[in-house]
Amino acid sequence: MPLRRRTIDRLKLRAGDTVLDVACGTGLSFDLLHDAVGDSGHIIGVELSPEMIELARRRVAEAGWKNVTLIESDMASVVLSHQLDAILFNFTHDVLRSKPALANIFASARGGARVALAGMKYPPRWMAPVNYVVRAQARPYMTTFEGLAAPWDLATDYLQSFERESALFGTAYIGWGRVSMLDHFKS
Ligand SMILES: C[S@@+](CC[C@H](N)C(=O)[O-])C[C@H]1O[C@@H](n2cnc3c(N)ncnc32)[C@H](O)[C@@H]1O
Repeated sequence: MPLRRRTIDRLKLRAGDTVLDVACGTGLSFDLLHDAVGDSGHIIGVELSPEMIELARRRVAEAGWKNVTLIESDMASVVLSHQLDAILFNFTHDVLRSKPALANIFASARGGARVALAGMKYPPRWMAPVNYVVRAQARPYMTTFEGLAAPWDLATDYLQSFERESALFGTAYIGWGRVSMLDHFKS
């Protein structure tokens, strides 16, 4: 939760914002997102797994939120018709390694929209023996270890600014930036 909070803080959400929670899982971020955007804002959660999104639906129903839209879909094919102010990628390694998913997400994003990413990564080279611990911890959450040295690198093609900090002793990262104003990638 502390890492999730730090990541969501990087989105600098304001009341009334529309935020996309990429691969939202069971909706563990919704509380924090809802606190930030308020009742006038909008949260869109997209999730591939029917079991996970069902738990997200229950969470939304129990909280009584009326401004959360849940879509069961692959990020590569979901139709996003909302004007997004912010996009959260929290522990979404598979999506960050999928070029079709990133192309689809950023095709729907307006220039300047705020983006935050977080997840596991390999620590610096001198800590390489720790890599097997990272893989063991990450295994339940991802189908590929490809790109674990720099999981953010494909997404940064769509960003006009990008900053990053390490977390959890170098085994995790938080990155943040803004969607590029250039729409050459939308063609
Ligand atoms: C580690 S969970 C993270 C869930 C959530 N973001 C969170 O912070 O709790 C990763 C989620 O990504 C979902 N996922 C993986 N590939 C996806 C895709 N292409 N489209 C949508 N969801 C996907 C998985 O089903 C899983 O629920």
